[in-house]
Amino acid sequence: MPDPSPRPPAPHPSAPPASAGGPLLPGRRILVVGAGTRPSDDPAAPVGNGRAIAVTAAREGAQVACADVDEAAAGATAGMIAAEGGRAHVVIADVTDPESCDRVVMRAAEKLGGLDGVVFNPGIGIGYGLAGTGLADWDRVMQVNLRAPFLVGKAALPALDAGAAMVFIGSLAGTKPGSRSPSYDASKAGLVRHIAAEGAGRGVRANVVAPGLIDTVMGRDASGGNTSRDRAAALIPMHRQGTAWEVADVVVFLLSHRAAYVTGQVVHVDGGLSTLR
Ligand SMILES: NC(=O)c1ccc[n+]([C@@H]2O[C@H](COP(=O)([O-])OP(=O)(O)OC[C@H]3O[C@@H](n4cnc5c(N)ncnc54)[C@H](O)[C@@H]3O)[C@@H](O)[C@H]2O)c1
Repeated sequence: MPDPSPRPPAPHPSAPPASAGGPLLPGRRILVVGAGTRPSDDPAAPVGNGRAIAVTAAREGAQVACADVDEAAAGATAGMIAAEGGRAHVVIADVTDPESCDRVVMRAAEKLGGLDGVVFNPGIGIGYGLAGTGLADWDRVMQVNLRAPFLVGKAALPALDAGAAMVFIGSLAGTKPGSRSPSYDASKAGLVRHIAAEGAGRGVRANVVAPGLIDTVMGRDASGGNTSRDRAAALIPMHRQGTAWEVADVVVFLLSHRAAYVTGQVVHVDGGLSTLR
């Protein structure tokens, strides 16, 4: 008779014990696509999500490939990492070009000597309401926010070994239509569950981190230059916007072995905003 309570399979052998302390990503080789921050005239502009993720991953012991369409922005991120004694490489990639989506994975793997993790961060929002969204706007948003993560994920999966992880930066707008941009809301509803299901067979995890209102240059641009976004922030249960560093900490956790049994999830980093109606 079959054992009615079979023992669960052992944790993956590459995973250290969950109780191990120390840095989260020691020796891991991580590609961050969209690792720059969009330019701003404000010298005190906050760091963007992609830059914070790359820098935090390096602080946790990873070697990072900083990929971006904006070479200067990627270089600035790599410079921050190097200034702290970390190791970073710059890769130029425009993810609206399908070949570039393949190439960015290949180039990063070459530079890092393999890949243990991939983060897809670029995201744009164009158009205001249905009437204010043209076909070209819709297509452009879908290219960056939905087609590109599909192509990068497709190229990355065979390049990742068991124990690796991918994280896609989504948005609360993928769950609740809060951005006023139909293309942005639709694109952020995501494809991660499929990638997680395919990846699981290979021991590769995939999750989405969905930020709420985060005080970045992108966030300020989305609110028409209202740097405080005070009125909206007052509605958040935690009564404030988040920072890119708070987004980055969750991404880095999901890339790490400490999240060894987490896949196919959308993790909101939003101060509780998603819990409201
Ligand atoms: N700030 C918020 O309030 C907020 C809220 C929810 C979700 N998000 C998500 O966070 C992510 C971005 O955050 P951020 O602060 O880093 O934004 P950002 O615009 O500062 O940085 C995005 C980076 O991606 C790069 N990029 C843009 N198009 C690219 C392309 N075609 N090819 C390669 N690189 C490209 C940009 O050059 C930039 O360096 C997006 O996915 C966005 O939807 C932000």
